[in-house]
Order: sequence, then structure tokens, then C-alpha cells
Amino acid sequence: MQGVTVVDHPLVQHKLTLMRDKQRSTKGFRQLLNEIGMLLCYEVTRDLPIERIEIETPMTKMEGAQIAGKKLVLAPILRAGVGFLDGMLTLVPAARVAHIGLYRDPESLQAVEYYFKAPSDLADRMVLVLDPMLATANSAVAAIERLKERGAKDLRFVCLLAAPEGIERLRSAHPDVHIWTAAIDERLNDHGYIVPGLGDAGDRMYGTR
Ligand code: PRP
Ligand code: URA
Repeated sequence: MQGVTVVDHPLVQHKLTLMRDKQRSTKGFRQLLNEIGMLLCYEVTRDLPIERIEIETPMTKMEGAQIAGKKLVLAPILRAGVGFLDGMLTLVPAARVAHIGLYRDPESLQAVEYYFKAPSDLADRMVLVLDPMLATANSAVAAIERLKERGAKDLRFVCLLAAPEGIERLRSAHPDVHIWTAAIDERLNDHGYIVPGLGDAGDRMYGTR
């Protein structure tokens, strides 16, 4: 599928199956989301530009490689996107963080914003938008619109599960934003939930209902 990368690494797929299991504890669900966040971060940063720098080892001078440009911005959509954050910050500890508070109205399924705080120089940085679930894509589309309004130009979207309907909507609203996901599920149900999915990611992560 154009514009979408499915991360089919066996470790990701194994952990995802554990997360889908309705018997998985809150603690286990959160731990697995953190671990998969790390693995997805590894994949989504695979093609970051590199520059050469001269360093000196205890033996001699040499040219080493370092990531070029300004530090990344990680932009989790609250609440569930926060589940990816720790794992990704473990790999990219100097990243900046933009918090985007959105909830989905249960009737209209439209995204309602309640919080937004981002670094001021988004235009100079690559932004990874994080949310485990891409269902209708209303939340992802709204979050990306908001980041673009604030200057972001280079964005990537990272999720755990995507519905085909959500991929189509996000790709048509923001064709410049590539999607990384661990799986593409069958469909949305009448309430906008992903099937087979894993239920409500925020509730499972925080033990709410
Ligand atoms: C969930 C999920 C996504 C959104 C996806 O959030 O974490 O943000 O739904 O659905 P969409 O693609 O149809 O917009 P929710 O609104 O339940 O908020 P929460 O994370 O605070 O529980
Ligand atoms: N949000 C979730 O948390 N799960 C879904 O299946 C759809 C939206």
C-alpha cells in the first residue's frame, strides 16, 4: 500500500499478539506498548540523514557518523500516544516532545482538542506523530493539521494498528505524511472501533473504563 510501511518484524508481531489478548493486564499492556514503541522508533528513523564528523579515539583520528540536523520532535496524541513515548525517548533521548490532547467524541467520532504544547521551531525539525490507534483517522488528521499550522513540514505518523478506512482518510488529507504501523486490521465497527483490534487503547493502558 502506497505511503504505508507495515513493520512485520517478528518481535513486533509477537508483542502485538500479546497486547491484543483481552486477558493481558494493564501493567503488561503498558510494558508491551513501551517495548513496541522502541522497535517502531528504530524502523521509522532508519533513513535519517547522516553527516560525517572528525573524532579522536584513544588510538587515532577518524571520521565518525552522526545524525544531521536538529533533534526530532516526538508528538504523542493523548492519552494512548504517551504509551510510545518512554520507549522512543530511550532510543532518542535528546528528542523534543509536543503534547497534543485530543479525545474522540463518542457520538460524532470527531476529535476534540483540550491541550496543545509544542516546541516553537517545528519548521526546522522532523516530527513523529504517535498514536497506537488509527481508526477513523479524525484524531490523526486534526493533530497533523494543528502541527502544520504551527509550522511543521516534515511529519511521519506512527501507530500500532490501522484500519483501512483510517489509512485512506489520512493519506487523502495529508498525502505527504508516511504511515508506519505494526498491522493493518480488517475494518471499523459501527462505533468506530478497529476489528479485530485490541479495544480501547487508552483504557487498557491506564486501567480506566
Ligand atoms: C483513541 C486513540 C486515538 C483515537 C483513534 O483515543 O488513542 O487517539 O481514539 O481514533 P480515530 O482514528 O477514530 O480518531 P480516545 O479518543 O479514545 O482518547 P483517549 O486516548 O484519551 O482514551
Ligand atoms: N480508539 C481505540 O482506542 N481503539 C479503537 O479500536 C478505535 C479508536
